[in-house]
Amino acid sequence: MRGPHSRPQCTPAHQAGALLLVAVTSLLTRLLSAPAPPPPFPTPGPRLPAAADHLRVYVYAEDEVDGLRVLLRGRDGSVSAATCLKGQWGTQVKIHQLLLRSRYRTLDKDEAHLFFVPSYVKCVRMTGGLTDKEINQTYVKVLGQMPYFRRSGGRDHIFVFPSGAGAHLFRSWATFLNRSIILTPEGDRTDKRGISAFNTWKDIIIPGNVDDSMVKPDARAVQPIPLMKRKYLANFLGRAQGKVGRLKLVELAKQYPDKTGCAYVL
Ligand SMILES: *[C@@H]1O[C@H](CO)[C@@H](O)[C@H](O)[C@H]1NC(C)=O
Ligand SMILES: *[C@@H]1O[C@H](CO)[C@@H](O)[C@H](O)[C@H]1NC(C)=O
Repeated sequence: MRGPHSRPQCTPAHQAGALLLVAVTSLLTRLLSAPAPPPPFPTPGPRLPAAADHLRVYVYAEDEVDGLRVLLRGRDGSVSAATCLKGQWGTQVKIHQLLLRSRYRTLDKDEAHLFFVPSYVKCVRMTGGLTDKEINQTYVKVLGQMPYFRRSGGRDHIFVFPSGAGAHLFRSWATFLNRSIILTPEGDRTDKRGISAFNTWKDIIIPGNVDDSMVKPDARAVQPIPLMKRKYLANFLGRAQGKVGRLKLVELAKQYPDKTGCAYVL
């Protein structure tokens, strides 16, 4: 019975007590449910309740589609994921690994909202594991075996292209990936190509890979300026290649060594 007569008065002391109780309970809950170790690869993180309305991402397994392993490890399977963790192409590996451990990962394609197609193809190409022609043919072969890709015309499928070439790395991208979601660090590259593979309505600019040695607290290659003291934060990884913007960056880094912290331009 919750009528006005039976309800006890709620005094400020009651309110304070209730607040304290909430604070203590949540603190205890947090302490008791402390850091579970990350689940071993490739099991997804603890599942959220099925009824919860949250994002679910399916990650294709490398042996699930004929050709996917080639896009990850090269034609003879010799390019390792560890090799591909370095340089700008590291984002292809890191995003894949994060999604494998993510609690948003689902193993059920029918309940997935988005599909992630892993590929370390930039790295594989740079290390001689595949030629441009093979990359193109392999992508076409892989996509042709994906009914869920066909279902949406690729609209719910995500690809990472971690270098300036963007999706152009796959020569026939315009035919096959023009509706898919592309994550890439550089958008407009019409300086190099007739058309841009980047579409602001569906694609997303992501930060380039920051080398682990720059961020891992235990083995840092440089001492970065504390975040609080920074006005700007920028990261460039690549070669100057005589390009105006990049040369300017090198100049700025030399001019303001105390503000830029460090600059690696090869
Ligand atoms: C890519 O591969 C497909 C299938 O083999 C082929 O039809 C297409 O012409 C290729 N694209 C380019 C640009 O070579
Ligand atoms: C990609 O698709 C958009 C929208 O359908 C279209 O306007 C554009 O011309 C296409 N780009 C290429 C390169 O085919």
